[in-house]
Amino acid sequence: CGIVAYKGHRQAEEIIIKGLQRLEYRGYDSAGIALLTPELSIYKKKGKVAELQAHIADQNTQSTIGIGHTRWATHGEPNDVNAHPHYSQTKDLAIIHNGIIENYASVKKELVAHGHEFTSETDTEVLIHFIEYIQQSNNVDLVEAVRLALKRVVGAYAIAIISKNDPDLMIAARKGSPLVIGLGKNEFFLASDATPIVEYTNEVVYLNDNEIAVIRGNELHIKNTDDVVSTPEITLLDLELEAIEKGGYDHFMLKEINEQPRSINDCLRGRLNASEGQLTLGGISDYLSKLRQADRIIIAACGTSWHAGLVAEYIFEEFCRIPVEVEYASEFRYRNPVIHEGDILIAISQSGETADTLAAMELAKSRGATVLGVCNVVGSSIARISDAGVYTHAGPEIGVASTKAFTAQLSVLSMIALKVAQQKGTISETRFREMLAHLEQIPAKVEEALKSEEQIRGISELYQDAKNFLYLGRGYNFPVALEGALKLKEISYIHAEGYPAAEMKHGPIALIDEEMPVCFIATRDGSYDKVVSNIQEVKARKGKVIAIVSEGDVLIPKMVDHVIEVPNTHEAFMPLVATIPLQLLSYHIAVMRGCNVDQPRNLAKSVTVE
Ligand code: G6P
Repeated sequence: CGIVAYKGHRQAEEIIIKGLQRLEYRGYDSAGIALLTPELSIYKKKGKVAELQAHIADQNTQSTIGIGHTRWATHGEPNDVNAHPHYSQTKDLAIIHNGIIENYASVKKELVAHGHEFTSETDTEVLIHFIEYIQQSNNVDLVEAVRLALKRVVGAYAIAIISKNDPDLMIAARKGSPLVIGLGKNEFFLASDATPIVEYTNEVVYLNDNEIAVIRGNELHIKNTDDVVSTPEITLLDLELEAIEKGGYDHFMLKEINEQPRSINDCLRGRLNASEGQLTLGGISDYLSKLRQADRIIIAACGTSWHAGLVAEYIFEEFCRIPVEVEYASEFRYRNPVIHEGDILIAISQSGETADTLAAMELAKSRGATVLGVCNVVGSSIARISDAGVYTHAGPEIGVASTKAFTAQLSVLSMIALKVAQQKGTISETRFREMLAHLEQIPAKVEEALKSEEQIRGISELYQDAKNFLYLGRGYNFPVALEGALKLKEISYIHAEGYPAAEMKHGPIALIDEEMPVCFIATRDGSYDKVVSNIQEVKARKGKVIAIVSEGDVLIPKMVDHVIEVPNTHEAFMPLVATIPLQLLSYHIAVMRGCNVDQPRNLAKSVTVE
């Protein structure tokens, strides 16, 4: 979900609607806004923010204070009633909430016993009723009621509240879900991330867990739920407005795919200098000796970031000779894993807010492991709870399907592995320098790979109506196969599976017939000959084969239906290049099928629920 709030001297509605549109990538089942006109008016609508905007076009929306929300449903189906904001029992208060109140059912029971009536199925409505109930029964002011209520709820939240009876007050709080406060001139902008704020101000305050922000008049005060007051710490945003707009592309996803030569370069810049043989990772320099001595590295992540982790496993094991386990954060955290003090957990996350990944880190930390973060969003929760980390610096990624963040993650993880290998002595200086040179050339090679777009569009036309797709690869290209399949299913809704090519004969081969497109990632590497045999096995069963091959390959083109060439590089870095045509293939197929590629159904960019 995404939240936006404004308090100042301008029309709140315009700022909030625009902000919600910028945050729409976080969820788009329904949207809503509350304003003091001076009545407390709430408008909400199932669907996109544009539908809310149309819905309020002829309403009185004159107000300089307001709160807005775009939702990714957790409790209750997406509809007008369950959309936020929600009223309190007396309708004097309104709230927006991102997160989950876990003990809402027991709180609700208590409130129902006191005569409260609820209009929605949401945990959020329970929270605002609870705050009002505490205010009335304890006879305290609203800020105190919020504090007392938050001490009793279990779960995660970023909230903002306004009150009809106190139009000069806005209260916000966070625990587990992100919240940024932008400071303008006598005005305040609140949002789940900085994207709705950047066009107004670059001065922000990141609220910490358990903190409550009280904005009254032109002042911001912060205290925590234990009533300890703190001074707001102002951070300067390093974000250009242009970076969060489409810049002439039809979709954010296409823009982000095409940005990769630059984003990878941004990620490497200042860190890697191949001609000098230098690799500097300032963020983790104090932790290199721990990494070098680690008995084992655990990588925890979700979705595409998990795929980046799988590639990293191969790289770390090959170059650093450290055993690596790659874990779905959601499985790891719930299975009482064995964690030792010398272990290092690396969390990979584009958003830096994924709830399961955060929890996996907290678990590892509590058992004495060192936790490192590889995040894209600067100042995100994961970045902040890490002992140290390396930012991917890919710039804001808006398309829900991750593209440039993935290749930036691969770049960072490759650099970390090479640095550790150098320190550990598991790589010779000559080889180290060679690897740096390979890495430095990746942006140019990605640029080259992007040139196949027209050809890929042609292939997409032929397969846009496929019901299933299989993606196969071995070694470093196995995670690429998984990622290719994920990209396709996320945005085109075609069922796709990624498999290690050699495992095909243990099951998926049964699916192959003339209707089945099979995408092989068959670049020239240690397992090339084996992959060629796997291609033959598919062709023998009349499958249609699309092969991603190294440029100049003369063997595979004779065997398959379509070949897409990519420039050669060291096999450890091939995923950075080979993934590009797969991103383009899924993009074009999805566009041809009329899908909303930037906001695929049921998905959200930042999953702050468990
Ligand atoms: C969601 C997104 C994916 C992303 C995953 C992990 O499912 O739709 O694109 O890979 O979360 O997100 P993170 O921000 O932790 O990388």
